[in-house]
Amino acid sequence: MDAKQRAGFKAAEYVEDGMSVGLGTGSTAYWLVERVGERVREEGLRVRCVPTSRRTEEQARSLGIPLVSLGEVGELDLAIDGADEIGPDLALIKGGGGALLREKLVASAARRFVVIADASKRVDVLGRFPLPVEVVQFAWELTARRVAAVTRVEPELRRGAGGGAYVTDNGNFILDCRCGEIPDPARAERELKSLAGVVESGLFVGMADTAVVATDEGVEVVGR
Ligand code: A5P
Repeated sequence: MDAKQRAGFKAAEYVEDGMSVGLGTGSTAYWLVERVGERVREEGLRVRCVPTSRRTEEQARSLGIPLVSLGEVGELDLAIDGADEIGPDLALIKGGGGALLREKLVASAARRFVVIADASKRVDVLGRFPLPVEVVQFAWELTARRVAAVTRVEPELRRGAGGGAYVTDNGNFILDCRCGEIPDPARAERELKSLAGVVESGLFVGMADTAVVATDEGVEVVGR
């Protein structure tokens, strides 16, 4: 079992009968969803889950996991998701997979948010991983210039497999910002969110309560 699978499987143990649960997106969350599906089938675990992307929705459906919309439930007992970087105080960069907006909505609705990752994702300062910023398509070039003024780097428009602009599940574009270092993620988050045209940033500050970090040998559980 590799580290991502180990983290996903471990976090699936946090899911209890009767819970409403947010299911993350990405190659680590994939294993979480697989294990929750197994528990639904084998243990008769009763859950209502909210997927953070179309990809996760398809996977969960194929496993027979009962789904519900976030708008309907409003509040979740638990959300579990991957991350691109985990910094001090469990501040995160997310959105490498393009699902940051739904991921943040789901995490913000959860009483407990657990982040799952392999140990390579832990950093002393956030910013080595390009920070994703979701922006509306309208006048995106103008928004990109404003984002550049805040981040002090030239954002790159994310491209899809065919070479055209990558479009999120919500119909928006993503700007990837190679910040290098983000010494004050809370401030960067506030500044980015204040810009017209920015829908969401991949900075998740003060949101994760617990990190389940796996190596090939074991799992470390870290609290905020
Ligand atoms: C999806 O948009 C992301 O936030 C993912 O949660 C993040 O990219 C982690 O993905 P992996 O588990 O595939 O590294």
